[in-house]
Amino acid sequence: MRITVNGAKGKMGQAVVNHVETTDGLSLIDQVDLGGSLSSSLSENPADIVVDFTRPEIRMENVKSILFGGAAAVVGTTGFTPEDLKQIEEWVKETGKGCFIAPNFIIGNILMQQFAKKAAEFYENVEIIEYHHENKVDYPSGTAVKTAELMSEVKKGYNSNTRDEVANVEGARGGDFNGIKLHSVRMPGFIASQEVLFGNVGEYLTIRHDNIDRVAYMPGVVAAAKHIKDRAELIYGLEHIL
Ligand SMILES: NC(=O)c1ccc[n+]([C@@H]2O[C@H](COP(=O)([O-])OP(=O)(O)OC[C@H]3O[C@@H](n4cnc5c(N)ncnc54)[C@H](O)[C@@H]3O)[C@@H](O)[C@H]2O)c1
Repeated sequence: MRITVNGAKGKMGQAVVNHVETTDGLSLIDQVDLGGSLSSSLSENPADIVVDFTRPEIRMENVKSILFGGAAAVVGTTGFTPEDLKQIEEWVKETGKGCFIAPNFIIGNILMQQFAKKAAEFYENVEIIEYHHENKVDYPSGTAVKTAELMSEVKKGYNSNTRDEVANVEGARGGDFNGIKLHSVRMPGFIASQEVLFGNVGEYLTIRHDNIDRVAYMPGVVAAAKHIKDRAELIYGLEHIL
């Protein structure tokens, strides 16, 4: 499988480059980063797949360049909205090239989300705390939002207990997604961790996942690439192929 990496100088991009270079059956065709041109790369050195880990604000222009450049896309960059996904579906139809987007490519992380969805059937009070390295610019993480989306499929109206609250510091209770409280921690020492807290009278349940090395993303990235290579479809979420 011929792979070009976009965002190749970034933390995730470097992990993908290292993995592709050292794995049988994968060939590294090109590495693109800020200042380079993905479209020129694809026309000069055609690839089967472009793996993209760049920045949320350029997510759509990158997907467009990949699909119209004749490759399938495996995208880890976060920030995709439902409207973005509708647009990408149109591009997939137009180009006949597939696009696999996953807010998280780690299998254990997907299991954490599935366990959280199951637990959500039994609890009314839910909060998510996600911890990332200090250079992660966007918040909350794509994984935290995806977890909240999955739990919102179970029911709406979490944390609906009425009481008068007094904010001593604005924002201290976190963000709100269908009533689910989201808290983002950014500091050196972490790569990516998440806790989902469920509270009930006299007990609480914590579901936690910790990523301690970016190598953990690679089996999911490769599985996504193999899956999407010859399929003209949009897939959002690694859980669809586990
Ligand atoms: N889906 C997942 O499993 C997963 C895992 C980790 C990170 N992420 C997401 O992936 C993205 C990148 O994360 P990171 O930690 O590697 O960030 P990073 O800042 O280390 O790397 C981003 C790279 O993209 C490059 N870049 C910026 N603009 C570009 C452009 N126009 N064209 C090409 N390259 C460009 C930067 O120069 C940098 O090298 C973020 O959105 C992050 O949230 C997703």
